[in-house]
Amino acid sequence: MYKLSQLAEDGKIMFNGNEVADTILYVNGDYVRKSEAVISVYDSGFQHGDGVYEGIRTYGRKVYRLEEHLKRLYESCYTLGIEVGKTKEEMIEIVKELIRRNIDAGFHDLHMRLQVTRGFKVQTGMHPTLNITSSSIVICVDQKPPIFNKDGITLVTTWLKRYSPSYMDPKIHCCNQLNQIMAACEAIRQGADEAIMLDQNGFVAETNSTNLQMIKDGALILPTIDSQLPGITRATMIQIAKQLGMEVQERNVTVSEYYNADEVFICGTVGEVVPVKMIDGKKIGKQVPGPVTEQFAEEYKKLTESLGVSIDD
Ligand SMILES: Cc1ncc(COP(=O)(O)O)c(C=O)c1O
Repeated sequence: MYKLSQLAEDGKIMFNGNEVADTILYVNGDYVRKSEAVISVYDSGFQHGDGVYEGIRTYGRKVYRLEEHLKRLYESCYTLGIEVGKTKEEMIEIVKELIRRNIDAGFHDLHMRLQVTRGFKVQTGMHPTLNITSSSIVICVDQKPPIFNKDGITLVTTWLKRYSPSYMDPKIHCCNQLNQIMAACEAIRQGADEAIMLDQNGFVAETNSTNLQMIKDGALILPTIDSQLPGITRATMIQIAKQLGMEVQERNVTVSEYYNADEVFICGTVGEVVPVKMIDGKKIGKQVPGPVTEQFAEEYKKLTESLGVSIDD
């Protein structure tokens, strides 16, 4: 069984009692339905997680921060020695066409996972000389409104460290996410939404899938990007804080400081700006969402409404 359509009953794929939207994907040059999309088992992404990705959201007929996402994607590919095989301009046109097709088919709240892998291998084996095609480019599109509860989420600190650059630079936004998936499993085991991952020195890095900020005495405080993904939404939070005239402190931050913060929130493309109500069983702040978090969420919303690459240009 390798196509989602083979899981369908009465022509519908169901998840938690809801029908899964049969969106349109881009798979190595073809536009195909999610239910029919396949890729070779010899693809480097399947074999080794040898590839990079970006999670990108659309708002209406605009693709939010597309250039920034592609910049990070191409930089990660360059580091890994993966030839994308398409220019950024060509990639933008593919994304626009894909989103147009999905909107024309009636889909909305679109979120993309744009993946580039090292391509197909001639036989199993990690060595890149076994690769016989140029990169594989797959863009999964899902109907996916922001994924977290905006009333507030709970976090637990996991024993599992986020990679330091001396093992695997977290600035490479790679498809192999076992480090974070193990942390997510830990969060699930403990009944939390996300796990806080520390760096090798015991300072907070980020959560398993988002960046983590706090507000204390009117300042935005956030961990440096040494051991975390330099999130595009995180950079936007700094920009918003500066516009609001707030002090910004990028420095080492401990879990204890988060416990005692006035407000804590996570941010990322897939979930936007989301308040944290509890960490390791301790309540955070006086009210959730806190007033500053709400202000950040409001400013972020304005940006998503005004910025973006139009699919109609
Ligand atoms: C580990 C991790 N941190 C943070 C983020 C948020 O990054 P962005 O704001 O660029 O979506 C992501 C998104 O993929 C992520 O995987």
